[in-house]
Amino acid sequence: MSELKTLFLDQSDVKKCGGGNISKFIETMEEVFSLHDKGDYILPNKTVLRWGDMDSESQTGRINSMPGFIGGKFNTSGIKWISSSPNNPFKHHLPRAAGIIILNDPETLMPVTVMDGTLISAMRTGANSGVVAKYMAKKNSKVLGLIGAGVQNRTQLMAIYHTVPTLEKVKITDLNAERAKNFANEMKKVIPLPFEIVNSAEEAVRESDIFITATVTETPIVKSEWIKEGSLYIHVGSHECEFDVINQSNKVVVDDWGELKHRGVETISIMYKENEFDETNLYAELGEIVNGKKAGRENDTEKIYFNSCGLGIQDLAIAKIVYEKAIRENHGQWISFWDQPSFV
Ligand SMILES: NC(=O)c1ccc[n+]([C@@H]2O[C@H](COP(=O)([O-])OP(=O)(O)OC[C@H]3O[C@@H](n4cnc5c(N)ncnc54)[C@H](O)[C@@H]3O)[C@@H](O)[C@H]2O)c1
Repeated sequence: MSELKTLFLDQSDVKKCGGGNISKFIETMEEVFSLHDKGDYILPNKTVLRWGDMDSESQTGRINSMPGFIGGKFNTSGIKWISSSPNNPFKHHLPRAAGIIILNDPETLMPVTVMDGTLISAMRTGANSGVVAKYMAKKNSKVLGLIGAGVQNRTQLMAIYHTVPTLEKVKITDLNAERAKNFANEMKKVIPLPFEIVNSAEEAVRESDIFITATVTETPIVKSEWIKEGSLYIHVGSHECEFDVINQSNKVVVDDWGELKHRGVETISIMYKENEFDETNLYAELGEIVNGKKAGRENDTEKIYFNSCGLGIQDLAIAKIVYEKAIRENHGQWISFWDQPSFV
């Protein structure tokens, strides 16, 4: 009766339960941002464990704790605990980031599942951009420029390809040429488009209708003068563009302005701290556009800039869907914390 059983789902279980399904993720992110705009969520600020000041994150990494509650049909609370060690891919053949998600029962608040959050985290970040492209990419967008040949740009590409059927070409660049080559070889097996490996961020940005930065750069790599009219810039990493890129955009859209101000490492949050960005110039949060309170793209000439901080509620919503499917289809492994709780 008092036994506490929890469902453990490893990455292969998460995959069996839809963890690789980009269209489901995009649909779910749209629902999450709609609830975000309606205020049907609780999101304590992300806490960041690091071994020094903000700059130390690029060397010794960080671990983020991202608790939250998301309402609507999800009605779930929990946490994502996710590490980031930028040297992992180069020194240890490990991904930069690895995460665990725990969900808690809505009534007893007992932990009901512990699952891999690495795949979910990467997929939801891509899917988020799928929603952004749906509302803010120019109709007829043909060229996608990707800067950074890591995990995130793989899921970014999957989501943009899914949302933008007019796409004709992908440009990819990375400081590490080998990574760019591997990216193109791997991704052309799943995305039937021509890939061009280019040698600089400038080449990836110029003439692109949509471009995405998902790098671990410590210094800005995107300049305003490279950006053409009508483009959509999706900024996934931290301080990846010059201040002018944001100043010259016609619309500045974010996932959650409060979270970005709190996190403090993204270009726009640095600008805000340095009094270089007046928050009245923020056009919208994504949920306002999803809910139709504000227009997305309105013409083929505006330059739109989107930046995400990443929200725990995105991960928790997906985790809830995965958990429910796992229960229905009998995936994963039950672990027992106790038969009878014992306090002495
Ligand atoms: N906004 C969000 O919700 C969110 C979610 C997850 C990750 N991220 C961020 O996305 C970024 C990428 O994550 P990842 O998992 O793909 O990392 P990764 O380590 O797999 O890949 C990053 C790539 O960036 C490349 N790079 C570094 N400096 C560069 C430069 N100046 N020009 C071109 N390439 C450069 C590296 O060589 C590496 O291949 C990280 O900054 C991470 O914090 C954001």
